[in-house]
Formats: sequence, structure tokens, C-alpha cells
Amino acid sequence: MSYAVLRGLGTHLPPRRVTNAELATLFDTSDEWITTRTGIKERRWVRPGQSTGDLATEAGRRALKSAGLDDGAEIGLLIVATTTPDHPCPGTAPDVAARLGLANAAAYDIAAVCSGFVYALEAVANAIEAGRVERGLVIGAETYSTILSPNDRTTSVIFGDGAGAVVLGRGAPDEPGRLLGFDLGSDGTGRDLITIPAGGSRQRSSGVAASDDDHYFTMQGKKVFAQAVHRMSESSLALLGRVGWTTDQVGHLVGHQANLRILKAVAEQLGLEPHRSVTNLDKVGNTSAASIPLALADAATAGELRTGERLLLTAFGGGLTWGSAALTWPDITPA
Ligand code: COA
Repeated sequence: MSYAVLRGLGTHLPPRRVTNAELATLFDTSDEWITTRTGIKERRWVRPGQSTGDLATEAGRRALKSAGLDDGAEIGLLIVATTTPDHPCPGTAPDVAARLGLANAAAYDIAAVCSGFVYALEAVANAIEAGRVERGLVIGAETYSTILSPNDRTTSVIFGDGAGAVVLGRGAPDEPGRLLGFDLGSDGTGRDLITIPAGGSRQRSSGVAASDDDHYFTMQGKKVFAQAVHRMSESSLALLGRVGWTTDQVGHLVGHQANLRILKAVAEQLGLEPHRSVTNLDKVGNTSAASIPLALADAATAGELRTGERLLLTAFGGGLTWGSAALTWPDITPA
């Protein structure tokens, strides 16, 4: 039997900081509204010409470094979770693999929106546990600034760009960093709550030309808010039951950084004190598939995570999709 263990964590944020004050010069909004409604103070946006694959490659390189590996390391499987791929075709992952010198690695993208990182983590952990690969790389990377409508002040203040990556390897059952279980789910009846209407076969085959607005990200905020709290709470509880942990045994909850009020509501539903819920969205906003590795890196760098402590990751996103993961925290330094 093989066990999947987290061995490295790397992140990359584009340097351009976009504060709430700057957004208030572009939209009819204010620092006060954004802060009280979302908890976000600033986010990062890519410079013109910079893509999701660029961010993913740098985060992947840093994750390899954190695991004591270099470009060209033996990686059997690379998955890039993203809502904002470099192109509709081909996938972003093969290009990232090539740029990291990961010769012949299986490489593909996962489109599970904000749940993508947890979905990809499960797939790579499974491949290791089944003995198919020795080592894998999971990258969550996004450039939402490229799909935000200049006419939509609500989505434009929430989302940010960034990338986070982890290296998983084969390890011992009692080793810190072990992935112990997952809970994944979806409900496609909520497909219209989060969507980019144009660019896919449904719009193209309709014979109706897409408007500029149809290429932008849309979200029904209030309904998404309620679903996010419900699904992340239920999924977390289902997973706790499956791995046999009580809430008291969880060191930290690392939830998808959607909105501070969502994170507070989920912690409350689980009976966790607020200080055990990791938050970093004040600095980066909602970075979708990159959100969980960015939050993990932030908490680890701040010294909040102890080696061996039990972590519960939980995410929710468009689809609708949701997913949770249980692991213990390894003895690693994020790069
Ligand atoms: N600045 C100022 N006012 C804004 C605004 C902005 N950026 N965006 C919306 N508003 C206004 C609305 O127009 C509305 O005005 P009205 O009452 O005059 O009609 C008012 O604020 C309240 O809007 P509402 O949509 O009811 O706000 P809300 O409390 O639901 O908060 C979200 C909006 C988007 C922050 C919230 O719904 C949310 O966080 N949803 C989930 C988002 C998310 O996490 N998505 C990803 C999940 S993976």
C-alpha cells in the first residue's frame, strides 16, 4: 500500500497590488463597502501579457524547491486547476510541465472553478496511492482579472490573481503531511449561478454571436453565498465522519477564501473558534483555484501551523462543485 504525503508548497503572486481605494476610482464602490461585505483590502492583478500558465510555472518551480527538488525532477503527474486557462485548447498543464522540464509527465487541466485545487489534490493523491506515480504536482492558478467585466463592480472587487502549488510524494502512513481522506461533490442544477456564458460549444453552436459581456465571469452572489456556506459545512462534516476526527481534533480549517463572512459562517457551523480558521483574503481576495494553497502558505509562513497538526481543507465553486480534504501538516517551509 502506498500513501500520499505533502512534500512541498510554493506560491507566486503577480507584483501589482490593487487596493480597494484604487478600485473606488474605477467603480462606484468604496473601501468601506468592500471591507465590510467581503473582508478584502487588496488583491493582485497580472500585468498585460502575463498568463495563468506563467503564474503556474513559477508556483510549480517554487513547490519543487520547497520539496528539495529542481526543474526536471521526476514527476509522474501534473494537474493545473484553473478557471482561466491560457487557451481553450490545448490545456495549460502540458505547457507548464514542459517549462518545468517535467519530461513525459501526464499533464492535464481540471475545470472545477474554486474547488479545482481540492479536486486535483484528490486525483494526484489517488494516483500515488494506486502506485501509478511516485510523485505528482498539483497547481491552482488563476488570472481572474482577465475575465472580470468592467461593468460589474461586484465581481471586480472580489477576485484576484495568483498561483499555489504542492508536491505530493509516496510516504509512510504515520508521516506528517499524509493525505487521509477526501469528500467531493457536485450539483449541476446550479450551473447558472457562476458562469462565463460565451466561448464554449453551447454558445458557438447556437448560431447567435456572443456580445462582449458574454465573455466575462458572472455570479449570482446571494445564492452563491448561501450554497457556499451550506456545501462547505456539509462536506467538512461528512469528511470528519469518514476519517473519524472530531471538530476538537482539527488544528486549523483552511477554507476557500471566498468571503470573510462565508468563512466565519462555515467555522460557526462546524463549531470551530474563529482563530482556528485560516484567512488571508484581506491581502489577495478570492483567487479561486489558487486560494487554498495560498492560504496554507500564508499560515505556514506566519508560524500558525504545527508539524503533525490535523488540517481540514474545504472549497466550493462554480458547477456547482465542492470538496474537502483531511491531512496532517508536514515539516516543510513554503517557497
Ligand atoms: N460596491 C458598492 N456596492 C455594491 C457593490 C460594490 N462593489 N457590489 C454590489 N453593491 C450593492 C448592490 O448593488 C446592492 O445595492 P442595492 O441594495 O441598492 O440593490 C447592495 O450592494 C447589496 O448587494 P448584495 O448583492 O445584496 O450584497 P451581498 O451582501 O450579498 O454581498 C457579495 C455581495 C457578492 C459580496 C456576496 O453575495 C458574496 O460574497 N457572495 C459569494 C461570492 C463568492 O464567494 N463567490 C465565489 C464562490 S466560489
